Amino acid sequence: MRISVYATPDSIMERDLKEQVVVVIDVLRATSTMITALYNGCKEVIPVKEIEEAINMSKNYDKDAYLLCGERNSQPIDGFHLSNSPLEYIRDVVEGKTILFTTTNGTRAMKMTSDARSVLVCGMINVDSVAEYILAQGCDTVFVCAGTEGKFSLDDCITAGAVISRIKAKTHVELDDLARVAVDAYDNANGRLHEALKDTVHYKKLAALGLTGDLEYCLTENAAPVICLYQDGVVRLLDKAWES
Ligand code: MLT
Repeated sequence: MRISVYATPDSIMERDLKEQVVVVIDVLRATSTMITALYNGCKEVIPVKEIEEAINMSKNYDKDAYLLCGERNSQPIDGFHLSNSPLEYIRDVVEGKTILFTTTNGTRAMKMTSDARSVLVCGMINVDSVAEYILAQGCDTVFVCAGTEGKFSLDDCITAGAVISRIKAKTHVELDDLARVAVDAYDNANGRLHEALKDTVHYKKLAALGLTGDLEYCLTENAAPVICLYQDGVVRLLDKAWES
């Protein structure tokens, strides 16, 4: 199995992803939030690029069937039900709902993967589940890090490393250079993820906004052990994705 890691979605532009499993990571915080919403019983998450697009889409739903959710510049969007804090996505709030979700980097990364064999949504909170799925598929896998405003983000890379390190322990893999860096970053952190990330750009930004609870949760391995698949523009839990 070959494993590649892309530092940002722009670097996968025009690449053929047809026979590949693609893993999208925006650990701080978009993919962690989507996984949490599904873990807590939402019906589906629909990633949307623009705020206007999400608002227009909401007009197709009954008032109680959807939630408008997301962020710009890590801040809540005026008039939206929920921000991009995974801690808001509790069962009482999200159960049975369609989440119309727009974020600065994460939803953009999802949109770049349309021709892949399957697309997984990944965070530290579902790291074991993602590794198990990839091992079961046994095919070449591409990790797409959402990055931060077009730039490499260590938090996404170290999350890719967490998954690859688990796969590598169980089977032979051929890693590209960034996959090696990702594994080294994860292994060197030796369980101290906050220590490894505390001086990075996005971590510091969220800490400065007082979002330490989000940081704590997003970096907790296996807090939401589910497999979330993005198919035909919608993210669902694995069994539900196969049903449709
Ligand atoms: C994004 O998608 O840009 C991020 O998840 C930003 C954030 O931390 O809210």
